Amino acid sequence: MTTTTAPEAPSVLIENLAKAYPGGPTVLEGITTSIARGEFVCILGASGCGKSTLLNVLAQLEPPTTGAIEVPDDGAAFMFQEASLLPWLTARGNVELALRLRGVPARERRQAATELLHLVHLGEAGGKRPHQLSGGMRQRTALARALAQDRELLLMDEPFGALDAITRDLLHDELERVWKATGRTIVFVTHNVREAVRLGQRVLLLSSRPGRIVEQWQVTDSIRNDAAAAAALTRDITDRLRQEISHHA
Ligand SMILES: Nc1ncnc2c1ncn2[C@@H]1O[C@H](COP(=O)(O)OP(=O)(O)OP(=O)(O)O)[C@@H](O)[C@H]1O
Ligand SMILES: [Mg+2]
Repeated sequence: MTTTTAPEAPSVLIENLAKAYPGGPTVLEGITTSIARGEFVCILGASGCGKSTLLNVLAQLEPPTTGAIEVPDDGAAFMFQEASLLPWLTARGNVELALRLRGVPARERRQAATELLHLVHLGEAGGKRPHQLSGGMRQRTALARALAQDRELLLMDEPFGALDAITRDLLHDELERVWKATGRTIVFVTHNVREAVRLGQRVLLLSSRPGRIVEQWQVTDSIRNDAAAAAALTRDITDRLRQEISHHA
């Protein structure tokens, strides 16, 4: 008997993707990349270059104009810049609703929500409604809700953009822990180069008008764990991002 070990299929394949909204200019062009299962990819680029558009296409909320994408059969979980929680439900209620929409039976939802709230360190605050939570706690609730969808692919669009630096650092640690614990494939959009180097295994830089992948960097653990190397890479990427922005200013 012979066994062949095929390389594992990637989680996301993007083939020569272009996107224009009806009547508008080309937003994205010639985007080709593949994202491995369990990989953490960060996307950087100037405002308006098409980062959210790319996530919306991957979430199948928008069709590609030309080219093709392949994403997992069950689609993607999405986490937006604003937590967009339902204000009349508690943190637990918001997470349980996502479980209900996924078809988890009522008797299992409570336990599953408890586990997810613990995973994002919100065990104590499950009974609070969104207006009673801090911005960081709301984003944690949104992360628990996104995880409740139990999809392999998690798309995150500047989820921590509105938070102060210390809360953001805490959430970086938590997201890294959750990513390692759950094995999710994560595509994470940010304006913040330091955040991209902190979290991503790979950082993609998009140009503007149209958005193309102009450069990418691998962030190995040895770079991430070496403050000087991480700072140097952050400077390189920032310089390159500045060039892209000034190019189109
Ligand atoms: N639904 C839409 N219909 C028409 N045009 C759109 C739509 N959504 C986005 N656009 C346009 O597409 C371009 C890219 O927008 P997108 O939101 O993807 O940028 P972005 O890189 O996410 O920017 P930011 O960093 O500011 O969030 C912009 O010119 C925007 O005006
Ligand atoms: Mg955006």
